[in-house]
Amino acid sequence: MACVLITGADRGIGAALAFAYRRRGDRAIAACLGDGESLVAAGIEVAPGVDVTSMSSLIALRERLAATHLDILVSNAGVFHADSFGQLDFAAMQRLYDVNALGPLRVASALTPLMGQGGKFGILTSRVGSITDNATGGMYGYRMSKAAANQLGVNLHHELKPRGIAVMLLHPGQVATDMTRELSALGEFITPEESAAGLVRQLDALNAATPPEFRHANGQLLPW
Ligand SMILES: NC(=O)c1ccc[n+]([C@@H]2O[C@H](COP(=O)([O-])OP(=O)(O)OC[C@H]3O[C@@H](n4cnc5c(N)ncnc54)[C@H](OP(=O)(O)O)[C@@H]3O)[C@@H](O)[C@H]2O)c1
Repeated sequence: MACVLITGADRGIGAALAFAYRRRGDRAIAACLGDGESLVAAGIEVAPGVDVTSMSSLIALRERLAATHLDILVSNAGVFHADSFGQLDFAAMQRLYDVNALGPLRVASALTPLMGQGGKFGILTSRVGSITDNATGGMYGYRMSKAAANQLGVNLHHELKPRGIAVMLLHPGQVATDMTRELSALGEFITPEESAAGLVRQLDALNAATPPEFRHANGQLLPW
């Protein structure tokens, strides 16, 4: 049985990941920004009030889990804000950077001390953070925050490899969640459960010999 902690697990892909790991018999800890009431009601172990923009919140979580050995850590918490060149909201963009790029760095810094040899750290970024794959432009703040998260993931690969912890950057697919409710024009969406099943498969395949990779939940290797 592996012990898995997922940030931003209140709803969407994070909640689906907690259910997926728990269903196969792992210990899934859903770190929620809120109280995770609906997850508690469904029998999921919840760590409430975990804000990835707050180092003290994450250190308090590490102290609560001091006796726990984490095998898998998934940095999933994220936010989206639509913008365009004609409508740039710089405060919203700073928020995107704080949650989507600095958030996973805070999570790594605070929680990887609970991990050891054979540990796996997955970061949910997004295909739109790929520079090579950017064929349309737009989404300034979100694209830039996720590109920064991709760079962070490669840095963490180098940082954590000597400790036997493997790192993978993950795109969950186009997933029907609260985040994408306004984006239905983008075409086909998969369910959070389908996405979570794919993400679990990618993390299962990750090991200490894996080079820094950016993978779609369906297994496709994505360009940086
Ligand atoms: N859905 C997609 O198609 C898609 C595509 C590419 C990448 N992604 C990425 O996948 C991840 C999950 O997305 P989703 O679609 O499941 O989004 P979602 O349904 O909007 O859920 C986002 C989760 O992140 C939490 N969160 C937000 N700010 C936080 C903070 N400061 N600290 C801790 N938790 C915080 C939210 O908590 P509350 O419920 O309390 O607000 C919520 O549980 C994100 O990183 C997103 O960028 C999603």
